[in-house]
Amino acid sequence: MSPSIKEISTKPFDGQKPGTSGLRKRVKVFQQEHYTENFIQSIFDSIEAKGATLVIGGDGRYFSPETVQTILKIGSANGVAKFIVGKDAILSTPAASNVIRKYKAYGGILLTASHNPGGPDKDFGIKYNVSNGGPAPENVTDKIYEKTKTIQSYKIIEAPPVDLSKIGEFSYGPSQVSIIDSVADYVVLLESIFDFPLIKSFLTSHSNDFRVLFDGLHGVTGPYAQALFVDKLGLPKTSVQNCVPLPDFGGGHPDPNLTYAHTLVEAVEKNGIEFGAASDGDGDRNMIYGKGAFVTPSDSVAIIAHWADAIPYFKNGVKGLARSMPTSKAIDLVAQKKGFEYFEVPTGWKFFGNLMDAGRLSICGEESFGTGSDHIREKDGLWAVVAWLNILAAANRDSPNKLLGINDILHAHYETYGRSFFSRYDYEEVPSTGANALVAHLNLALDSKSLDNSTHTSASTGQKFTVSNLYNFAYTDPIDKSVSKNQGQVITFDDGSRVVFRLSGTGSEGATVRMYVERYVAPEAGAAELKREAADGLKGLIEVALELSKLKDFLGVDKPTVIT
Ligand code: G6P
Ligand code: ZN
Repeated sequence: MSPSIKEISTKPFDGQKPGTSGLRKRVKVFQQEHYTENFIQSIFDSIEAKGATLVIGGDGRYFSPETVQTILKIGSANGVAKFIVGKDAILSTPAASNVIRKYKAYGGILLTASHNPGGPDKDFGIKYNVSNGGPAPENVTDKIYEKTKTIQSYKIIEAPPVDLSKIGEFSYGPSQVSIIDSVADYVVLLESIFDFPLIKSFLTSHSNDFRVLFDGLHGVTGPYAQALFVDKLGLPKTSVQNCVPLPDFGGGHPDPNLTYAHTLVEAVEKNGIEFGAASDGDGDRNMIYGKGAFVTPSDSVAIIAHWADAIPYFKNGVKGLARSMPTSKAIDLVAQKKGFEYFEVPTGWKFFGNLMDAGRLSICGEESFGTGSDHIREKDGLWAVVAWLNILAAANRDSPNKLLGINDILHAHYETYGRSFFSRYDYEEVPSTGANALVAHLNLALDSKSLDNSTHTSASTGQKFTVSNLYNFAYTDPIDKSVSKNQGQVITFDDGSRVVFRLSGTGSEGATVRMYVERYVAPEAGAAELKREAADGLKGLIEVALELSKLKDFLGVDKPTVIT
Protein backbone atom coordinates (compact mmCIF):
# COMPACT_ATOMS: atom_id res chain seq x y z
CA MET A 1 0.00 0.00 0.00
CA SER A 2 1.34 3.43 -0.92
CA PRO A 3 1.97 5.72 2.02
CA SER A 4 -0.07 8.89 2.13
CA ILE A 5 1.44 12.14 1.00
CA LYS A 6 1.65 14.78 3.69
CA GLU A 7 1.80 18.50 3.10
CA ILE A 8 3.93 20.28 5.72
CA SER A 9 3.62 24.04 6.09
CA THR A 10 6.77 26.12 6.06
CA LYS A 11 8.04 29.66 5.57
CA PRO A 12 10.63 30.91 3.07
CA PHE A 13 14.26 31.33 4.12
CA ASP A 14 16.38 34.19 2.83
CA GLY A 15 19.45 33.54 0.71
CA GLN A 16 18.60 30.23 -0.96
CA LYS A 17 19.99 31.47 -4.26
CA PRO A 18 21.98 28.72 -5.96
CA GLY A 19 25.27 29.75 -7.58
CA THR A 20 26.81 27.94 -10.57
CA SER A 21 27.60 25.08 -8.30
CA GLY A 22 24.34 24.95 -6.38
CA LEU A 23 23.40 26.14 -2.93
CA ARG A 24 26.41 26.10 -0.63
CA LYS A 25 26.16 26.96 3.05
CA ARG A 26 27.40 25.80 6.40
CA VAL A 27 25.97 22.45 7.53
CA LYS A 28 24.33 24.23 10.48
CA VAL A 29 22.34 26.38 8.05
CA PHE A 30 21.05 23.30 6.21
CA GLN A 31 20.17 21.68 9.54
CA GLN A 32 17.62 24.36 10.43
CA GLU A 33 14.10 22.96 10.54
CA HIS A 34 12.56 22.94 7.00
CA TYR A 35 15.62 24.64 5.40
CA THR A 36 16.77 21.65 3.34
CA GLU A 37 13.19 20.50 2.69
CA ASN A 38 12.27 23.98 1.35
CA PHE A 39 15.13 23.98 -1.11
CA ILE A 40 14.42 20.45 -2.33
CA GLN A 41 10.71 21.17 -2.77
CA SER A 42 11.69 24.35 -4.68
CA ILE A 43 13.75 22.20 -7.06
CA PHE A 44 10.74 19.95 -7.69
CA ASP A 45 8.53 23.01 -8.15
CA SER A 46 10.89 24.24 -10.89
CA ILE A 47 11.28 21.04 -12.93
CA GLU A 48 8.93 18.45 -14.44
CA ALA A 49 10.06 15.36 -12.57
CA LYS A 50 6.69 13.61 -12.42
CA GLY A 51 7.11 10.10 -13.80
CA ALA A 52 10.82 10.77 -14.40
CA THR A 53 14.09 9.16 -13.30
CA LEU A 54 16.35 11.15 -11.03
CA VAL A 55 19.96 10.45 -10.01
CA ILE A 56 21.16 11.18 -6.47
CA GLY A 57 24.83 11.25 -5.54
CA GLY A 58 27.48 13.36 -3.95
CA ASP A 59 30.86 13.37 -2.27
CA GLY A 60 29.72 11.66 0.91
CA ARG A 61 30.32 14.68 3.08
CA TYR A 62 28.71 15.17 6.49
CA PHE A 63 24.89 15.49 6.28
CA SER A 64 24.71 13.64 2.93
CA PRO A 65 22.98 10.39 4.06
CA GLU A 66 20.24 12.33 5.88
CA THR A 67 19.72 14.55 2.86
CA VAL A 68 19.42 11.59 0.48
CA GLN A 69 16.53 10.31 2.64
CA THR A 70 14.92 13.78 2.54
CA ILE A 71 15.20 13.90 -1.26
CA LEU A 72 13.70 10.40 -1.56
CA LYS A 73 10.73 11.35 0.63
CA ILE A 74 10.02 14.69 -1.04
CA GLY A 75 10.85 13.46 -4.54
CA SER A 76 8.54 10.48 -4.19
CA ALA A 77 5.73 12.71 -2.92
CA ASN A 78 6.31 14.89 -5.98
CA GLY A 79 5.86 11.98 -8.35
CA VAL A 80 9.41 10.88 -9.23
CA ALA A 81 9.08 7.39 -10.72
CA LYS A 82 12.60 6.15 -10.13
CA PHE A 83 15.65 7.21 -8.16
CA ILE A 84 19.11 5.99 -9.08
CA VAL A 85 21.26 6.47 -5.97
CA GLY A 86 24.98 5.93 -5.52
CA LYS A 87 25.74 3.37 -2.80
CA ASP A 88 26.29 5.09 0.56
CA ALA A 89 25.15 8.36 -1.02
CA ILE A 90 28.36 8.44 -3.07
CA LEU A 91 28.77 9.40 -6.72
CA SER A 92 31.57 11.74 -7.68
CA THR A 93 30.45 14.75 -9.71
CA PRO A 94 31.86 13.32 -12.98
CA ALA A 95 30.44 9.87 -12.19
CA ALA A 96 27.01 11.41 -11.55
CA SER A 97 27.20 13.32 -14.83
CA ASN A 98 27.94 10.01 -16.56
CA VAL A 99 25.11 8.14 -14.80
CA ILE A 100 22.59 10.85 -15.76
CA ARG A 101 23.65 10.58 -19.42
CA LYS A 102 24.06 6.81 -19.55
CA TYR A 103 20.65 5.99 -18.03
CA LYS A 104 18.94 8.91 -19.76
CA ALA A 105 17.75 10.32 -16.48
CA TYR A 106 15.76 13.53 -16.33
CA GLY A 107 18.35 15.11 -14.02
CA GLY A 108 20.26 14.63 -10.81
CA ILE A 109 20.77 16.10 -7.38
CA LEU A 110 24.35 16.18 -6.15
CA LEU A 111 25.21 16.67 -2.51
CA THR A 112 28.56 18.40 -2.44
CA ALA A 113 30.38 21.61 -1.68
CA SER A 114 33.21 20.54 -3.99
CA HIS A 115 36.65 21.44 -2.61
CA ASN A 116 35.33 23.15 0.53
CA PRO A 117 35.91 21.45 3.90
CA GLY A 118 33.21 19.22 5.38
CA GLY A 119 31.98 18.29 8.85
CA PRO A 120 29.37 19.54 11.33
CA ASP A 121 30.83 23.05 11.38
CA LYS A 122 31.87 23.19 7.74
CA ASP A 123 30.15 23.25 4.37
CA PHE A 124 27.37 21.39 2.64
CA GLY A 125 25.80 21.90 -0.76
CA ILE A 126 22.94 20.83 -3.00
CA LYS A 127 23.33 21.11 -6.75
CA TYR A 128 20.86 20.29 -9.50
CA ASN A 129 22.06 18.90 -12.86
CA VAL A 130 19.97 18.61 -15.99
CA SER A 131 19.55 15.80 -18.52
CA ASN A 132 22.76 16.48 -20.46
CA GLY A 133 24.60 15.70 -17.19
CA GLY A 134 25.74 19.28 -16.66
CA PRO A 135 24.92 21.87 -14.00
CA ALA A 136 21.50 23.48 -14.34
CA PRO A 137 21.64 26.64 -16.43
CA GLU A 138 20.75 29.98 -14.89
CA ASN A 139 17.14 29.98 -16.08
CA VAL A 140 16.58 26.84 -13.98
CA THR A 141 18.50 28.02 -10.91
CA ASP A 142 16.71 31.38 -11.08
CA LYS A 143 13.39 29.57 -11.08
CA ILE A 144 14.43 27.51 -8.05
CA TYR A 145 15.45 30.69 -6.25
CA GLU A 146 12.11 32.36 -7.02
CA LYS A 147 10.29 29.34 -5.59
CA THR A 148 12.35 29.46 -2.37
CA LYS A 149 11.14 33.04 -1.83
CA THR A 150 7.44 32.14 -1.79
CA ILE A 151 7.30 28.53 -0.61
CA GLN A 152 4.48 27.83 1.85
CA SER A 153 4.58 24.04 2.11
CA TYR A 154 6.38 20.94 0.95
CA LYS A 155 5.13 17.44 0.14
CA ILE A 156 6.58 14.38 1.76
CA ILE A 157 5.80 10.71 2.12
CA GLU A 158 6.35 8.84 5.33
CA ALA A 159 8.61 5.90 4.71
CA PRO A 160 11.33 4.11 6.63
CA PRO A 161 14.87 5.15 5.60
CA VAL A 162 16.34 3.30 2.63
CA ASP A 163 19.44 1.26 3.43
CA LEU A 164 21.91 3.09 1.18
CA SER A 165 24.54 0.41 1.63
CA LYS A 166 22.56 -2.31 -0.20
CA ILE A 167 22.93 -2.47 -3.97
CA GLY A 168 19.67 -3.43 -5.69
CA GLU A 169 16.19 -2.34 -6.78
CA PHE A 170 13.55 -1.61 -4.17
CA SER A 171 10.00 -0.30 -4.15
CA TYR A 172 9.70 2.88 -2.21
CA GLY A 173 6.19 4.22 -1.68
CA PRO A 174 4.87 4.95 -5.16
CA SER A 175 8.45 5.04 -6.57
CA GLN A 176 11.35 2.71 -7.28
CA VAL A 177 14.82 3.11 -5.81
CA SER A 178 17.87 1.61 -7.46
CA ILE A 179 21.03 1.67 -5.36
CA ILE A 180 23.98 1.31 -7.73
CA ASP A 181 27.67 0.64 -7.37
CA SER A 182 29.18 4.15 -7.27
CA VAL A 183 32.26 3.21 -9.24
CA ALA A 184 31.44 0.57 -11.89
CA ASP A 185 29.87 2.76 -14.62
CA TYR A 186 32.64 5.31 -14.32
CA VAL A 187 35.37 2.70 -14.73
CA VAL A 188 33.61 1.37 -17.85
CA LEU A 189 33.50 4.95 -19.18
CA LEU A 190 37.22 5.63 -18.67
CA GLU A 191 38.10 2.24 -20.15
CA SER A 192 36.18 3.22 -23.27
CA ILE A 193 38.15 6.48 -23.53
CA PHE A 194 41.77 5.62 -22.76
CA ASP A 195 44.26 3.00 -23.86
CA PHE A 196 44.32 0.98 -20.63
CA PRO A 197 46.42 -1.90 -22.04
CA LEU A 198 49.12 0.57 -23.15
CA ILE A 199 49.10 2.39 -19.80
CA LYS A 200 49.23 -0.89 -17.90
CA SER A 201 52.13 -2.28 -19.87
CA PHE A 202 54.05 0.99 -19.45
CA LEU A 203 53.45 1.13 -15.69
CA THR A 204 54.23 -2.56 -15.23
CA SER A 205 57.53 -2.32 -17.04
CA HIS A 206 58.53 0.78 -15.05
CA SER A 207 57.40 -0.21 -11.58
CA ASN A 208 60.71 0.99 -10.11
CA ASP A 209 61.53 4.10 -12.08
CA PHE A 210 58.06 5.46 -12.80
CA ARG A 211 56.08 5.32 -9.60
CA VAL A 212 52.57 6.69 -9.27
CA LEU A 213 50.93 8.22 -6.21
CA PHE A 214 47.33 9.38 -6.20
CA ASP A 215 46.01 11.29 -3.20
CA GLY A 216 42.23 11.28 -2.74
CA LEU A 217 42.47 13.86 0.07
CA HIS A 218 39.78 11.72 1.78
CA GLY A 219 37.28 12.96 -0.79
CA VAL A 220 35.02 10.95 -3.03
CA THR A 221 37.63 9.73 -5.54
CA GLY A 222 39.24 7.14 -3.23
CA PRO A 223 37.17 4.13 -4.36
CA TYR A 224 37.42 5.22 -8.00
CA ALA A 225 41.19 5.55 -7.74
CA GLN A 226 41.46 2.16 -6.06
CA ALA A 227 39.43 0.58 -8.90
CA LEU A 228 41.36 2.33 -11.67
CA PHE A 229 44.93 2.36 -10.44
CA VAL A 230 45.12 -0.77 -8.29
CA ASP A 231 42.46 -3.12 -9.69
CA LYS A 232 42.62 -2.20 -13.39
CA LEU A 233 46.14 -0.89 -13.94
CA GLY A 234 47.78 -3.26 -11.49
CA LEU A 235 49.61 -0.66 -9.40
CA PRO A 236 50.55 -1.51 -5.82
CA LYS A 237 48.20 -0.51 -3.00
CA THR A 238 50.78 2.05 -1.90
CA SER A 239 50.13 4.02 -5.08
CA VAL A 240 46.95 5.47 -3.58
CA GLN A 241 46.75 7.38 -0.31
CA ASN A 242 44.01 9.11 1.71
CA CYS A 243 41.57 7.15 -0.40
CA VAL A 244 38.92 6.38 2.20
CA PRO A 245 36.18 8.99 1.78
CA LEU A 246 35.47 10.65 5.11
CA PRO A 247 32.50 12.90 5.96
CA ASP A 248 34.92 15.61 7.11
CA PHE A 249 37.77 14.77 4.68
CA GLY A 250 39.89 13.95 7.71
CA GLY A 251 39.73 17.59 8.76
CA GLY A 252 41.54 18.68 5.60
CA HIS A 253 40.73 21.08 2.82
CA PRO A 254 40.13 18.77 -0.16
CA ASP A 255 41.40 21.09 -2.88
CA PRO A 256 44.17 19.87 -5.21
CA ASN A 257 46.64 22.72 -5.29
CA LEU A 258 50.16 23.14 -3.97
CA THR A 259 48.91 24.64 -0.70
CA TYR A 260 46.03 22.37 0.29
CA ALA A 261 47.21 19.09 -1.22
CA HIS A 262 50.29 19.17 1.01
CA THR A 263 49.98 15.45 1.85
CA LEU A 264 50.63 14.69 -1.82
CA VAL A 265 53.37 17.28 -2.21
CA GLU A 266 55.22 16.01 0.88
CA ALA A 267 54.99 12.34 -0.11
CA VAL A 268 56.10 13.06 -3.68
CA GLU A 269 59.10 15.07 -2.51
CA LYS A 270 60.07 12.68 0.29
CA ASN A 271 59.93 9.54 -1.84
CA GLY A 272 60.94 11.10 -5.16
CA ILE A 273 57.69 9.93 -6.79
CA GLU A 274 57.80 10.45 -10.56
CA PHE A 275 54.05 10.92 -11.06
CA GLY A 276 51.73 12.29 -8.39
CA ALA A 277 48.17 13.51 -8.67
CA ALA A 278 45.26 14.59 -6.50
CA SER A 279 41.59 15.39 -6.87
CA ASP A 280 39.13 17.44 -4.84
CA GLY A 281 36.24 16.53 -2.53
CA ASP A 282 33.75 15.71 -5.30
CA GLY A 283 36.29 14.54 -7.89
CA ASP A 284 36.02 17.12 -10.63
CA ARG A 285 39.32 18.99 -10.06
CA ASN A 286 42.84 17.63 -10.52
CA MET A 287 46.47 18.46 -9.96
CA ILE A 288 49.40 16.76 -11.69
CA TYR A 289 52.57 16.94 -9.63
CA GLY A 290 55.70 14.79 -9.79
CA LYS A 291 59.10 15.14 -8.17
CA GLY A 292 60.37 18.56 -9.23
CA ALA A 293 57.53 18.92 -11.77
CA PHE A 294 54.32 20.87 -11.39
CA VAL A 295 51.93 21.09 -14.31
CA THR A 296 49.86 24.26 -14.28
CA PRO A 297 46.26 23.51 -15.26
CA SER A 298 46.62 25.87 -18.25
CA ASP A 299 49.55 23.83 -19.58
CA SER A 300 47.85 20.56 -18.70
CA VAL A 301 44.86 21.10 -20.97
CA ALA A 302 47.09 22.38 -23.80
CA ILE A 303 49.28 19.29 -23.55
CA ILE A 304 46.29 16.92 -23.47
CA ALA A 305 44.97 18.69 -26.59
CA HIS A 306 48.35 18.37 -28.31
CA TRP A 307 48.49 14.65 -27.53
CA ALA A 308 44.81 13.94 -28.31
CA ASP A 309 45.86 11.47 -31.04
CA ALA A 310 47.27 9.17 -28.37
CA ILE A 311 43.86 8.89 -26.69
CA PRO A 312 41.48 6.43 -28.42
CA TYR A 313 38.39 8.56 -27.63
CA PHE A 314 39.75 11.32 -29.89
CA LYS A 315 40.79 8.98 -32.72
CA ASN A 316 37.99 10.29 -34.92
CA GLY A 317 39.13 13.85 -34.51
CA VAL A 318 38.93 16.77 -32.16
CA LYS A 319 35.90 19.01 -32.67
CA GLY A 320 37.27 22.09 -30.98
CA LEU A 321 39.13 23.38 -27.93
CA ALA A 322 38.23 25.91 -25.26
CA ARG A 323 39.43 27.57 -22.07
CA SER A 324 38.02 30.02 -19.57
CA MET A 325 39.14 33.60 -20.08
CA PRO A 326 41.73 33.82 -17.25
CA THR A 327 43.29 30.48 -18.29
CA SER A 328 46.56 30.95 -20.19
CA LYS A 329 46.51 30.95 -23.96
CA ALA A 330 48.68 27.84 -24.24
CA ILE A 331 45.73 25.83 -25.60
CA ASP A 332 45.01 28.51 -28.24
CA LEU A 333 48.45 27.87 -29.69
CA VAL A 334 47.70 24.16 -30.02
CA ALA A 335 44.39 24.94 -31.74
CA GLN A 336 46.08 27.32 -34.16
CA LYS A 337 48.80 24.85 -35.05
CA LYS A 338 46.43 21.94 -35.52
CA GLY A 339 43.67 23.92 -37.19
CA PHE A 340 41.01 23.35 -34.51
CA GLU A 341 38.25 25.84 -33.74
CA TYR A 342 38.77 27.32 -30.25
CA PHE A 343 36.81 29.37 -27.75
CA GLU A 344 37.41 31.69 -24.80
CA VAL A 345 34.48 31.52 -22.36
CA PRO A 346 33.86 33.13 -18.96
CA THR A 347 34.94 31.33 -15.79
CA GLY A 348 32.61 28.42 -15.01
CA TRP A 349 32.28 24.95 -16.51
CA LYS A 350 28.67 25.59 -17.50
CA PHE A 351 29.89 27.78 -20.37
CA PHE A 352 31.41 24.75 -22.12
CA GLY A 353 28.17 22.73 -22.12
CA ASN A 354 26.40 24.42 -25.04
CA LEU A 355 29.48 24.12 -27.25
CA MET A 356 29.79 20.42 -26.43
CA ASP A 357 26.09 19.74 -27.02
CA ALA A 358 26.45 21.51 -30.39
CA GLY A 359 29.35 19.23 -31.35
CA ARG A 360 31.92 22.03 -31.48
CA LEU A 361 34.04 21.27 -28.44
CA SER A 362 36.06 18.21 -27.42
CA ILE A 363 38.70 19.28 -24.89
CA CYS A 364 38.65 22.20 -22.47
CA GLY A 365 40.03 23.42 -19.19
CA GLU A 366 40.26 26.13 -16.61
CA GLU A 367 43.16 27.50 -14.61
CA SER A 368 41.19 26.59 -11.47
CA PHE A 369 42.38 22.97 -11.74
CA GLY A 370 39.52 21.84 -13.97
CA THR A 371 40.16 19.77 -17.09
CA GLY A 372 37.83 17.65 -19.15
CA SER A 373 36.13 16.75 -22.39
CA ASP A 374 32.76 16.13 -23.96
CA HIS A 375 32.58 12.57 -22.58
CA ILE A 376 30.44 14.11 -19.80
CA ARG A 377 29.28 17.65 -18.92
CA GLU A 378 31.38 18.25 -15.81
CA LYS A 379 35.11 18.62 -15.45
CA ASP A 380 36.74 15.36 -14.51
CA GLY A 381 39.69 14.96 -12.15
CA LEU A 382 40.47 11.29 -12.71
CA TRP A 383 39.94 11.65 -16.47
CA ALA A 384 42.76 14.22 -16.47
CA VAL A 385 45.04 11.99 -14.40
CA VAL A 386 44.48 8.98 -16.65
CA ALA A 387 44.88 11.24 -19.71
CA TRP A 388 48.35 12.14 -18.45
CA LEU A 389 49.22 8.48 -17.85
CA ASN A 390 48.00 7.67 -21.36
CA ILE A 391 50.16 10.47 -22.81
CA LEU A 392 53.23 9.38 -20.87
CA ALA A 393 52.71 5.77 -21.91
CA ALA A 394 52.40 6.82 -25.56
CA ALA A 395 55.42 9.11 -25.38
CA ASN A 396 57.51 6.34 -23.85
CA ARG A 397 56.38 3.78 -26.43
CA ASP A 398 58.04 6.07 -28.95
CA SER A 399 61.14 6.58 -26.78
CA PRO A 400 62.57 3.14 -26.04
CA ASN A 401 65.95 4.35 -24.84
CA LYS A 402 65.11 7.17 -22.50
CA LEU A 403 62.37 7.16 -19.90
CA LEU A 404 60.31 10.32 -20.36
CA GLY A 405 58.67 11.92 -17.33
CA ILE A 406 56.38 14.89 -16.69
CA ASN A 407 59.14 17.46 -17.19
CA ASP A 408 60.17 15.95 -20.53
CA ILE A 409 56.60 16.29 -21.80
CA LEU A 410 56.41 19.87 -20.50
CA HIS A 411 59.69 20.96 -22.03
CA ALA A 412 59.00 19.33 -25.38
CA HIS A 413 55.74 21.25 -25.44
CA TYR A 414 57.46 24.55 -24.64
CA GLU A 415 60.07 23.93 -27.33
CA THR A 416 57.30 23.48 -29.89
CA TYR A 417 54.83 26.13 -28.84
CA GLY A 418 56.69 28.43 -26.49
CA ARG A 419 55.68 28.81 -22.88
CA SER A 420 52.89 30.80 -21.30
CA PHE A 421 54.22 31.52 -17.82
CA PHE A 422 51.14 31.68 -15.63
CA SER A 423 50.31 32.33 -12.00
CA ARG A 424 47.28 33.29 -9.94
CA TYR A 425 47.37 35.38 -6.78
CA ASP A 426 44.34 34.98 -4.50
CA TYR A 427 43.39 37.59 -1.92
CA GLU A 428 40.80 35.71 0.10
CA GLU A 429 38.17 37.18 2.38
CA VAL A 430 39.16 40.82 1.91
CA PRO A 431 36.63 43.57 2.70
CA SER A 432 34.10 43.98 -0.11
CA THR A 433 34.53 47.76 -0.05
CA GLY A 434 38.22 47.45 -0.95
CA ALA A 435 37.54 44.89 -3.65
CA ASN A 436 34.84 47.07 -5.18
CA ALA A 437 37.15 50.11 -5.06
CA LEU A 438 39.78 48.15 -6.99
CA VAL A 439 37.20 47.23 -9.64
CA ALA A 440 36.06 50.88 -9.82
CA HIS A 441 39.66 52.07 -10.18
CA LEU A 442 40.21 49.80 -13.17
CA ASN A 443 36.87 50.78 -14.69
CA LEU A 444 37.86 54.42 -14.38
CA ALA A 445 41.13 53.74 -16.19
CA LEU A 446 39.12 51.90 -18.83
CA ASP A 447 36.73 54.81 -19.33
CA SER A 448 39.35 57.57 -19.21
CA LYS A 449 41.94 55.51 -21.14
CA SER A 450 44.45 56.79 -18.58
CA LEU A 451 46.54 53.61 -18.74
CA ASP A 452 46.52 53.22 -22.51
CA ASN A 453 50.02 53.19 -23.97
CA SER A 454 51.55 53.85 -20.56
CA THR A 455 54.86 52.10 -19.96
CA HIS A 456 55.69 50.50 -16.62
CA THR A 457 59.12 49.36 -15.54
CA SER A 458 59.72 46.62 -13.01
CA ALA A 459 62.03 47.92 -10.30
CA SER A 460 63.71 44.57 -9.73
CA THR A 461 64.05 43.16 -13.26
CA GLY A 462 64.12 46.36 -15.32
CA GLN A 463 61.57 44.84 -17.77
CA LYS A 464 59.29 47.36 -19.45
CA PHE A 465 55.61 46.67 -20.11
CA THR A 466 53.50 48.99 -22.26
CA VAL A 467 49.73 48.74 -21.88
CA SER A 468 48.10 47.91 -25.22
CA ASN A 469 44.51 47.42 -24.08
CA LEU A 470 42.26 47.41 -21.02
CA TYR A 471 38.78 45.89 -21.24
CA ASN A 472 35.98 44.23 -19.35
CA PHE A 473 35.49 40.70 -20.62
CA ALA A 474 32.01 39.97 -22.02
CA TYR A 475 30.86 36.81 -23.78
CA THR A 476 28.13 36.02 -26.24
CA ASP A 477 27.38 32.31 -26.28
CA PRO A 478 27.80 31.21 -29.93
CA ILE A 479 24.95 28.71 -29.59
CA ASP A 480 22.14 30.39 -27.64
CA LYS A 481 23.44 33.96 -28.05
CA SER A 482 23.07 34.69 -24.32
CA VAL A 483 25.35 37.50 -23.14
CA SER A 484 27.47 37.47 -19.95
CA LYS A 485 29.00 40.82 -19.07
CA ASN A 486 31.60 41.96 -16.52
CA GLN A 487 33.46 38.66 -16.37
CA GLY A 488 36.80 40.18 -15.37
CA GLN A 489 39.05 43.10 -16.23
CA VAL A 490 41.87 42.39 -18.62
CA ILE A 491 45.00 44.46 -19.17
CA THR A 492 47.10 43.45 -22.15
CA PHE A 493 50.65 44.59 -22.91
CA ASP A 494 52.38 45.04 -26.20
CA ASP A 495 54.64 42.01 -25.68
CA GLY A 496 51.52 39.80 -25.47
CA SER A 497 51.57 39.60 -21.67
CA ARG A 498 48.29 39.85 -19.85
CA VAL A 499 46.95 40.54 -16.38
CA VAL A 500 43.38 39.78 -15.34
CA PHE A 501 41.53 40.93 -12.24
CA ARG A 502 38.39 39.10 -11.22
CA LEU A 503 36.18 38.73 -8.19
CA SER A 504 35.64 35.12 -7.20
CA GLY A 505 32.10 33.84 -7.57
CA THR A 506 32.55 31.03 -5.06
CA GLY A 507 33.77 32.64 -1.82
CA SER A 508 31.58 32.50 1.28
CA GLU A 509 32.97 35.38 3.41
CA GLY A 510 33.75 38.94 2.27
CA ALA A 511 35.24 39.15 -1.22
CA THR A 512 38.00 37.18 -2.88
CA VAL A 513 40.06 39.00 -5.49
CA ARG A 514 42.01 36.97 -8.03
CA MET A 515 44.87 38.36 -10.06
CA TYR A 516 45.97 36.21 -13.01
CA VAL A 517 49.27 36.96 -14.75
CA GLU A 518 50.49 35.51 -18.01
CA ARG A 519 53.65 36.14 -20.01
CA TYR A 520 54.44 34.36 -23.24
CA VAL A 521 57.97 33.37 -24.16
CA ALA A 522 58.58 32.06 -27.69
CA PRO A 523 60.55 28.85 -28.34
CA GLU A 524 63.38 30.92 -29.82
CA ALA A 525 64.17 32.24 -26.34
CA GLY A 526 65.96 28.95 -25.73
CA ALA A 527 65.82 26.17 -23.18
CA ALA A 528 67.23 28.13 -20.23
CA GLU A 529 64.59 30.83 -20.54
CA LEU A 530 61.77 28.34 -21.12
CA LYS A 531 62.74 26.28 -18.09
CA ARG A 532 62.69 29.09 -15.55
CA GLU A 533 60.57 28.88 -12.42
CA ALA A 534 57.17 30.45 -13.09
CA ALA A 535 57.61 32.88 -10.17
CA ASP A 536 60.89 33.97 -11.66
CA GLY A 537 59.61 34.29 -15.22
CA LEU A 538 56.70 36.42 -13.99
CA LYS A 539 58.44 38.55 -11.36
CA GLY A 540 58.57 41.77 -13.35
CA LEU A 541 55.03 41.49 -14.68
CA ILE A 542 53.62 40.80 -11.21
CA GLU A 543 55.33 43.91 -9.83
CA VAL A 544 53.89 46.03 -12.62
CA ALA A 545 50.42 44.53 -12.21
CA LEU A 546 50.39 45.28 -8.50
CA GLU A 547 51.65 48.80 -9.08
CA LEU A 548 49.25 49.88 -11.78
CA SER A 549 46.20 48.34 -10.07
CA LYS A 550 47.19 49.77 -6.65
CA LEU A 551 45.86 46.44 -5.38
CA LYS A 552 47.68 46.51 -2.05
CA ASP A 553 46.33 49.96 -1.22
CA PHE A 554 42.75 49.05 -2.07
CA LEU A 555 42.74 45.71 -0.31
CA GLY A 556 44.90 46.75 2.62
CA VAL A 557 46.97 43.56 2.41
CA ASP A 558 50.55 42.96 1.49
CA LYS A 559 50.57 39.35 0.36
CA PRO A 560 48.12 37.01 -1.34
CA THR A 561 46.62 34.20 0.75
CA VAL A 562 47.27 31.55 -1.92
CA ILE A 563 49.56 31.54 -4.95
CA THR A 564 48.99 28.93 -7.63
C1 G6P B 1 33.99 26.33 -9.64
C2 G6P B 1 33.53 26.07 -11.04
C3 G6P B 1 34.67 26.30 -12.00
C4 G6P B 1 35.22 27.69 -11.84
C5 G6P B 1 35.56 27.97 -10.41
C6 G6P B 1 35.85 29.45 -10.29
O1 G6P B 1 34.97 25.41 -9.30
O2 G6P B 1 33.08 24.74 -11.15
O3 G6P B 1 34.20 26.10 -13.30
O4 G6P B 1 36.38 27.86 -12.60
O5 G6P B 1 34.47 27.65 -9.57
O6 G6P B 1 35.82 29.85 -9.01
P1 G6P B 1 36.00 31.38 -8.62
O7 G6P B 1 36.13 31.33 -7.14
O8 G6P B 1 37.26 31.87 -9.29
O9 G6P B 1 34.78 32.12 -9.12
ZN1 ZN C 1 34.85 20.06 -7.23
